Order: sequence, then structure tokens, then C-alpha cells
Amino acid sequence: MRILSGIQPSGTLHIGNYFGAIQKIVEAQNQGDLFAFIASYHALTSVKDKEILEKNIFEVAVNFLACGIEPEKSTFWVQSDVKEVLELYWILSNHTSMGLLERAHSYKDKTARGIGANHGLFSYPVLMAADILLYDSNVVPVGKDQIQHVEMARDIATSFNHTYGEILTLPVSKVDENVATVPGTDGAKMSKSYGNTIDMFGTKKGTKKQVMGIVTDSKELDEVKDHTTCNIYKLCELFMNETELLDLQKRYATPGEGYGHFKLTLLDKINEHFEPYAQKRQHLLDNPNEVKEILAFGAQKAQKLAAAKMEIIRDAVGLA
Ligand code: ADP
Ligand code: TRP
Repeated sequence: MRILSGIQPSGTLHIGNYFGAIQKIVEAQNQGDLFAFIASYHALTSVKDKEILEKNIFEVAVNFLACGIEPEKSTFWVQSDVKEVLELYWILSNHTSMGLLERAHSYKDKTARGIGANHGLFSYPVLMAADILLYDSNVVPVGKDQIQHVEMARDIATSFNHTYGEILTLPVSKVDENVATVPGTDGAKMSKSYGNTIDMFGTKKGTKKQVMGIVTDSKELDEVKDHTTCNIYKLCELFMNETELLDLQKRYATPGEGYGHFKLTLLDKINEHFEPYAQKRQHLLDNPNEVKEILAFGAQKAQKLAAAKMEIIRDAVGLA
């Protein structure tokens, strides 16, 4: 079973990205033949600065590798290192109706938020379909916001196969229902566009500042507090086991401690969680050539498959 997923290098990764995507992708190495890539072409829809894009690509690679992606066990590469995907994107564009793209929630949401509508943003799902279909992917683990894009890849593949025969594999999306949306420091969905994130690998000072900024009600030290509505508690649920959570619930129910104390408990748990990855991460940051070699190795593996598939597709459409 081939499992494929991509993540955009569009900013500093936060714990929402970690629990919603990165952790799942790394775990998938043990569930099937994992293809994971850094969606560098997709990031052009939002990042329009050379240095920032280069830095983001490198950082996402480092973070994935630090969190356990193994280059021998999986295929891990940068999307734009395998150009075949753009050729397939064009071919698939001719099997994608305007209506299909016009119905895309993600496009509608982005333009509604004032992001200028351009062709890259509009045709984003076709490139994503090319990512998925080029590598004969069976399963695509994604967050809820991306389910529709995987459905569109199925629709596009169905239309292509209808014209040329059974050439493309129809993918299914896989959403882990246990991973609820990770809340941000203000209680809304954690997202880099809302400025409410806690970084995966922030500096000690930076992470502390983010955690201390979590919004709570204004109950005093000597008051009983309600854990069920508390943003600190919701974040603690990601890092604590049942016993630790029960203990924390007792602290909420007992006067004497304030939200500042609970925040420090959460901060300790976050640091503890990412600590094992920090050493590997530092090693990779200090050895960028090692990272480049790993990505080149991954691109070579992906390219081999992409080239073989494109030969079949070119032949089918009459471009061989
Ligand atoms: P952002 O909202 O910060 O721009 P992206 O849209 O780049 O994040 O998301 C990258 C991946 O991380 C996607 O798979 C998405 O579903 C997941 N993700 C992002 N934010 C969260 C969150 N708050 N909770 C769970 N998963 C998230
Ligand atoms: N659109 C995805 C996101 O923003 C990233 C992505 C690009 C992707 N191509 C993909 C995910 C192919 C899965 C499969 O999260």
C-alpha cells in the first residue's frame, strides 16, 4: 500500500502541524510504503520571497528528519526536484472542469480572506492531484481541510481513466478522527495566519512567551477553575497521559494555584516532548549538506517512479 502526503514549507511549524500532520506522516512509515514530500511548488502560492522559501524548505526537511523520517524506510523529497509533476499537472488540467475548481472550499476561503485570486491558487488542487496520481498513491493522510482536494484528485483521475483507460490509481483520503483540531493560544484553530501558534522547536524564551500568552478567564488563585473550557487544559491533553490529566483536573478543582502555574506545567510537557528530537535537529542544522544529500537521494527514488509513470501517461495521450 502506498501512502503519500505532502506538507507546504510556508512558515515555522507549530504544534498543530505536528499533531495534525507530521506525527501521522512519520507513523505511516510503519504502515506502508511512505512517500512524503515538501510541497515547494504549492508554497509559491503564499511565499514570494526567495530567501524565505529556501529557509522554509530546509527547516521543514530538518524538522521531519528530526521527528523520525528515515530516508531508507521511506521516500522523502522536495516536490520541485521532480519536474514530471508539472507535466502531469498540465495533462490533468485538461480533465478538470472549471466547476470542480470553483467549488473548492480552500480557494473560496482564501479569496474571501482577501488573498488575491491568481491562477496558481485556483489550480492548486490540480497540482495536488498530480502529486497524488503520479506516484500511484492509495492512501493520502490529510487534515480535514484537505479531504476535498483528495476527492478532486479522484474525480480528475476518473475523468482521465474514462478517456484513456484504467491508467491512474484512485486514492482515498485518511483522516485521523482522534486528532481534533489543535487549538491556538486564543482558543481558535492554531494557524500561522492567526498569530496564535506555539512553535514545535521555538527558542526556550520564545516558547515560554507563546505559552504564557494562552488566553484564559480571569479567575483568581483562590477560586476553583473549570478545566473543561480551559485552553491550557486542551493543549495539555495532547501531551499528557490519563493519570497526569486526572492529576491536573484535581489541581483545577483545588483553590491555591493560578493559570500561570498550569501554563508552566504545559511548558514543561512541551519541552519534554520535543527534547528527544532536539539533538538530532541541531545536528542536521549544523550539517546542511547531510540534509541536501538525503533530499537528493529521496528525489532520485521518486523521480525513477515518476519517469516510468509519465512514459505510460504520455503514450496513452499520444505524446510518446
Ligand atoms: P496553517 O493553518 O498554520 O497555515 P497549514 O495549512 O500549512 O497550517 O497546515 C499544514 C498541515 O498541518 C495540514 O495537514 C493541516 O491539516 C495540519 N494542521 C494545521 N493546523 C492544524 C491544527 N490547528 N490542528 C490540527 N492540524 C493542523
Ligand atoms: N495541500 C496540502 C496542505 O496544504 C499539501 C499537499 C500538497 C499535499 N500536495 C499534496 C498533501 C498531496 C497530500 C497529498 O496541507
